[in-house]
Amino acid sequence: MSSETLDQVQSNMRVSRKRLLGRPILAEGEDGLFTQSWFPLCLSSEVATGKVLGADFLGGRVVVFRATNGVAQVLSAYCPHLGADLAVGDVYEDTVRCAFHHWQYDQDGVCVKTGIGDPPPPSACLFKFPTAEKHGIIWAFNGEAPHFEVPDFPYPADELVVKVETFRQLVNVDPWVICCNTPDIQHIKALHGITFDQQDPDEEIEWTDHSMLYDFKGRHANGEPIEYRVGIFGTSIFYQSSTFNGRWFGFIAPLGLPRPGQCKTYMVIAARKSDSDAASTEAFLKFAMDLEKRVVSEDVPILQTIHFKPGTLTKSDKALGKFLQYLRNFPRAHPSAEFIS
Ligand code: FES
Ligand SMILES: [Fe+2]
Repeated sequence: MSSETLDQVQSNMRVSRKRLLGRPILAEGEDGLFTQSWFPLCLSSEVATGKVLGADFLGGRVVVFRATNGVAQVLSAYCPHLGADLAVGDVYEDTVRCAFHHWQYDQDGVCVKTGIGDPPPPSACLFKFPTAEKHGIIWAFNGEAPHFEVPDFPYPADELVVKVETFRQLVNVDPWVICCNTPDIQHIKALHGITFDQQDPDEEIEWTDHSMLYDFKGRHANGEPIEYRVGIFGTSIFYQSSTFNGRWFGFIAPLGLPRPGQCKTYMVIAARKSDSDAASTEAFLKFAMDLEKRVVSEDVPILQTIHFKPGTLTKSDKALGKFLQYLRNFPRAHPSAEFIS
C-alpha cells in the first residue's frame, strides 16, 4: 500500500461521510397545501378605483378589484360560468364583469347578474381572500380568515414617509427559504459583514406561533453603529425597525408567492417626517433603500441557486434550528384550490 493511499484511508476514518439531514420541511405546494401567511400581490398604485388587475398566486390566478368605495378586494380569477379570466373583464356597476358573457361579481365575489338575464345560480361565486392594504401594497391571506395581521411600523402611518418598490425578477425559492436568513446569524456576520456588540440573541428571541423578533446592536459592514429589531411574520414577511447612525428607519420586505418555488420581492422603507425637512427625508429614504438593496444583492446569487437542505448545524445555528422547527409546525391549507386553478 503506498503512503498516499494510507493517508486517504486515515483521513476517511477521521471524517464521517454520512450526510446528516434534519427532518425535511415541506415545500410550498408539495402536498397540495401552502403555508397560511399574508402574501403581497401588487402595489396599491397598480389598481386605481374602478380597475381590476390579474395576478398569479399559489400556482393559480386571482384578481385584485377596487370598487368606488376605494376598498381593494382579492378574488379568485376564473369565472364560474365557463372559466374566463376575470382580469380580461372590466369593472362595471361597481362589480367585476366577465368579458365573455357579462356575468357580474360584487366585492364579496357573488354573482349578482348575468349578461343575458338568466338568474345567477347560487353556486356562481368566487373565492374571497382575506385582503389587506398596507404600506402601499395589497395583500392576500392564504385561508378563510387571517391568523394574524400584517405588521405595522412602531409609529403611526401619518407620521411616516414610505417608499415602496417591487422587482420584476423572481427569485427561485419559496418565500420561507428567504425568511430563514433572519435567524441565520452566521450569514449575517459572514456574508453581510455585520458585527454584533453582544452574544448571539438566541435566548432573547421573542417567539409566537406566527412570528419571531429579536434585537441586536452592532456595526454595519462599513462601521456605522446600528441598533436593529428584526424578525419574521408568518412565512413571508421580513420586518426591521432600525436606528442607523442615530436615525430611525423601518424596513419591511414582503415576499409574494406566485407559484411554488418562486417568490416576488417587495421592499418598503419608512422614515419619520419629524426627523428632517421633506427633501432630507427623501434623500434619507433613498439612502436606506440603497443600503437594504446592497444587503439583498449579497443574498440573491445564493438564494437563486441554493438547494435548501438543512444538514449539519453548529452552536451558532441555534436560532436557525428553532426557526426550522417553527416552519415544520406552521399551519398549511389551500381553501381556494378549486377556484384559482
Ligand atoms: S365565462 Fe364568464 S360569463 Fe361566461
Ligand atoms: Fe441576508
